[in-house]
Amino acid sequence: MSLSSLVQIAGGMKNVARVLVPEQRLVLEVVEPALIESSSSLIASIDLVQGQTQLSFVRDETIDDEQLLGLGKQIAEMQISKLAPFTAPTPCEHRPQWHISPPQGLLNDPNGFIFHNGQYHLFYQWYPYQCVHKDKHWAHLTSSDLINWQWQPVALTPSDWFDSHGVFSGHALSNNDELMLFYTGNTRIGEERERQTTQCLATSKDGIEFKKLGPVVPELPPGVTAHIRDPKIIRRNGEWLMLLGAQTTELKGRLAIYRSQDLHHWQFDKLYGDETGDMGYMWECPDMFELNGEWFSIIGPQGIESFSSMNTIPHHNGYFKTTWQDRAPQLGEFAHLDYGFDFYAPQTALTADGRRVLSGWMGLPDEIDQPSNGWVHQLTALRELSVRNGKLCQWPIEEIDQLVEQQLNLSLSAQPLEVGTKSFDLTATLEWGQSLKLFVGADSELTIEARSDTRSLVMDRTKTLNRAVDTQREVPLASDNVQLRILADNSSVEAFVNGGEVVMTSRVFTPANATAMCSEGGDVKVMVKTLKAAQARLISS
Ligand code: FRU
Repeated sequence: MSLSSLVQIAGGMKNVARVLVPEQRLVLEVVEPALIESSSSLIASIDLVQGQTQLSFVRDETIDDEQLLGLGKQIAEMQISKLAPFTAPTPCEHRPQWHISPPQGLLNDPNGFIFHNGQYHLFYQWYPYQCVHKDKHWAHLTSSDLINWQWQPVALTPSDWFDSHGVFSGHALSNNDELMLFYTGNTRIGEERERQTTQCLATSKDGIEFKKLGPVVPELPPGVTAHIRDPKIIRRNGEWLMLLGAQTTELKGRLAIYRSQDLHHWQFDKLYGDETGDMGYMWECPDMFELNGEWFSIIGPQGIESFSSMNTIPHHNGYFKTTWQDRAPQLGEFAHLDYGFDFYAPQTALTADGRRVLSGWMGLPDEIDQPSNGWVHQLTALRELSVRNGKLCQWPIEEIDQLVEQQLNLSLSAQPLEVGTKSFDLTATLEWGQSLKLFVGADSELTIEARSDTRSLVMDRTKTLNRAVDTQREVPLASDNVQLRILADNSSVEAFVNGGEVVMTSRVFTPANATAMCSEGGDVKVMVKTLKAAQARLISS
């Protein structure tokens, strides 16, 4: 039996939509069931799975991994050839001017953020065809200045037996001239959609075209469920570490570590983080780095208790101060990275001049109902990380100044002032009891209030077009006043508080003409730098 004869029985290459290899079987999902040579004695079963027809064969040893990779490559080519119409950006008044947004469909986590061979590469999780979470691709952008991004051919599509239900998140490694992408391959088997997880590698010589090498971690380690994903590779003490977010069989979130000498062969070490106790049912998207001589581990714990009654979502993001006992990381106290509505799955990269810069998803796993036309979610602004009093602080990268058009020095009062744009970089200090109102229009405003009774900063998007039912977020502050730097970009705000010690990141949808601002509780002096559009953030032509 040859693979090509099985493809023939499935109605030919054009009729193969997905390949799966559960246990000793080979499964081909077909586009058009009528094209199947159903009389063939090689067919073990024909099943309807989630409304799709899947053809099962018994896999014999003559079908090796090389042949399967060859089949995946052909499916990838077909997937890429279908993508062109979905790379045309839909017109939408809520589009950001300079943040990265998908031309169509759904964006989630940033992936593979790296400086390699003189260029920055940034990928993101993308489902091009609809605004839903399905079979994820890696969209690919490059930049020389971290502001203007060039659309590149989609780097990875869900084409192979190990990732045909999603090329999930991961990081990149610049290894001499090779750009290596480590990611999680996600497949779902049968009507029960049993999850199969592998950690995979794809490499590129030119940084544009990637060759999948398949799973480098083909099996689950002991003690975890199939929820183990999002590889981050770091180098420490002469060895490579692969960090993975994991769920134990007792349904606790933990950090799994594999070790390697050559990046291709990986040995499971163990699960770390027991010292954190009960920190939710799953950890996603780990990152780990040294900054100013101290180590930090970023993680997205799901299902931890909230710090405020105004925040009821299960998805959080934060970091543990990390120390090492020989080869073992010890995770210290947890601190949140963001207190706004929409922030998840960040990852960091080192810039050419040695800055540690973070990119995050400005969205959350459960939220897809937004008023944007044919696309959902965007990435955050890039933020430089620094350490102050042992804490991680975030601050917009200085390159954002390239976008400044004009500077307005305004004194805000209760009377709304027109600034004529929703894309700006604003600096202000609020005394306790004062509020700032942005995106003010006939029926809309975003309120940022320094509430004096609770000494907390409250972001309130009740009077906006956002459809999510929770409308307020708060963060307690111990400072004498509240220093704000706010980046706004049509349908988002990122408030950097007290020099970036605290950040609140949120999507804020308001009508296009809601371009005024005002204050409450007294006059507030603001400096507003209006920002122009960045180039080529969506497509190259
Ligand atoms: C985080 C996440 C990752 C996963 C990816 C799938 O948002 O759930 O854990 O790899 O999204 O798109």
